[in-house]
Amino acid sequence: VPGEYVTNVSQAVRGAIPSPNIWNSPDIYEVYNRAVDPDGLIESAMTEIRPWDGAAVLDVGCGTGFHLPRFAARARTVVGVEPHRGLAVRARDRVAGLPNASVRNAGAQELPLPPASVDVAHARWAYFFGPGCEPGLAELARVMRKGGAAFVVDIDAARGTYGRWFRRHFPRYEPDDVERFWSGRGFSRRRVEMRLAFESRADLAAVLAIEFPADLAAEFTAEHAGLEIDYPVNVRWKYY
Ligand SMILES: C[S@@+](CC[C@H](N)C(=O)[O-])C[C@H]1O[C@@H](n2cnc3c(N)ncnc32)[C@H](O)[C@@H]1O
Repeated sequence: VPGEYVTNVSQAVRGAIPSPNIWNSPDIYEVYNRAVDPDGLIESAMTEIRPWDGAAVLDVGCGTGFHLPRFAARARTVVGVEPHRGLAVRARDRVAGLPNASVRNAGAQELPLPPASVDVAHARWAYFFGPGCEPGLAELARVMRKGGAAFVVDIDAARGTYGRWFRRHFPRYEPDDVERFWSGRGFSRRRVEMRLAFESRADLAAVLAIEFPADLAAEFTAEHAGLEIDYPVNVRWKYY
């Protein structure tokens, strides 16, 4: 229920999936976001599939709104939806000077948008979309306009250095099951050879420390030289 806050994760609307990395460390998460995809491969792939010039864009689970200004530069309107109140406030501050951008404090299960009002939806690092997330996908289907496209961008845990680390952390995560989940719901996939590029070793270590338990973060930081990490991702999309 939007506006009704659970007590153990005091700042999130009901139905939010705990996201300790960004909930507890939004400033380090910002460092992470700045390191993501220096080549712009994700945005290029999305643009080829469904450009958003002049479009109504929705960013589901927008966090601190890192991606909202990028969308706002070309879109007619962009709405960020974020269930964590503190993050929604940060996202609102970020877009305060952008007349075509706004932020709503809500979750994917109850999108505060009219039916058939969105041309391009984006959900990034959206583990709240996966098995069990059918109410959110039904909401997406409700708000998407005919001819629109919804994107779900997430790790390809089957590949790359980051994928190997991710599977160490979540040994029961089955990339094939995830693929079956999405293809069974009409989503296509494009594999993107994304990399993270940090400004310093300290930044890299700080980000791994919010992404993984302390022992794994220390091990991964020690084994991995340099400032870059290969991090293949899946850009999934569905036309409506
Ligand atoms: C890993 S963060 C990614 C944030 C943002 N997409 C980005 O790329 O910077 C995942 C986000 O999903 C949000 N989230 C968790 N459960 C959600 C739900 N049920 N509906 C929408 N967003 C949700 C979290 O609060 C968090 O901000």
